Amino acid sequence: MPKGIFITLEGPDGSGKSTQVENIRAYFVSNGREVVVSREPGGTSISEKLRSIVLDNANAEMDDVTEMLIYAAARAQHVAEKIRPALERGAVVVCDRFVDSSIAYQGFGRNLGDQVSEVNRYATGGLEPDVTFFMDLDPEIGRARIGKDVRDRLEQQKLDFHYRVYDGYKALCDKYPERIVRIDASKTIDEIKGDIYSKLETLETLETLETL
Ligand code: TMP
Repeated sequence: MPKGIFITLEGPDGSGKSTQVENIRAYFVSNGREVVVSREPGGTSISEKLRSIVLDNANAEMDDVTEMLIYAAARAQHVAEKIRPALERGAVVVCDRFVDSSIAYQGFGRNLGDQVSEVNRYATGGLEPDVTFFMDLDPEIGRARIGKDVRDRLEQQKLDFHYRVYDGYKALCDKYPERIVRIDASKTIDEIKGDIYSKLETLETLETLETL
């Protein structure tokens, strides 16, 4: 049985993650692998309910710590019910956002700091992605891609919040150079796909070497 692979995508809102999630799915399906695609917050029935609470524009009074804990609670359920079982049966799990989002948005954006990593280590039982693609795009460009009328509670935040989030991501790239692959998200969709596929090829070669 192949080893499970856990891949996450991160980046500012509007950086084109969902398109690339589908390209990664196609890559592994054509190699005959079981692929589980998911997203955060969400991915299970309970986590999707928590998603609607945390992103609801009507919840303007939500406290920052409450927000951070809802993301972590949604994640705990997602890991326990969906991600861990899939990895254990050898699937490739491709997830749109994971713990790095909480570190960037709540840790840096909301200034909650290191507590965010600790809470999330507990929520995930220490599960970490094998590879993370960081879709590097200026937050102002990302934000302009999302129409004003459809912005959720987080996307509504002022630009300085989004720049703090972006700084958070850059700090994560420096801290985890082995895990996080920076992708220039200002390139065309096809160029980005090419950059991601070359990394996936290296990953598969490494996997094959490990099983020899
Ligand atoms: P999405 O639009 O990529 O589905 O993500 C929903 C929003 O939630 C997005 O603005 C980023 C934010 N978010 C956090 O603030 N913390 C988290 O832990 C996650 C997963 C998302």
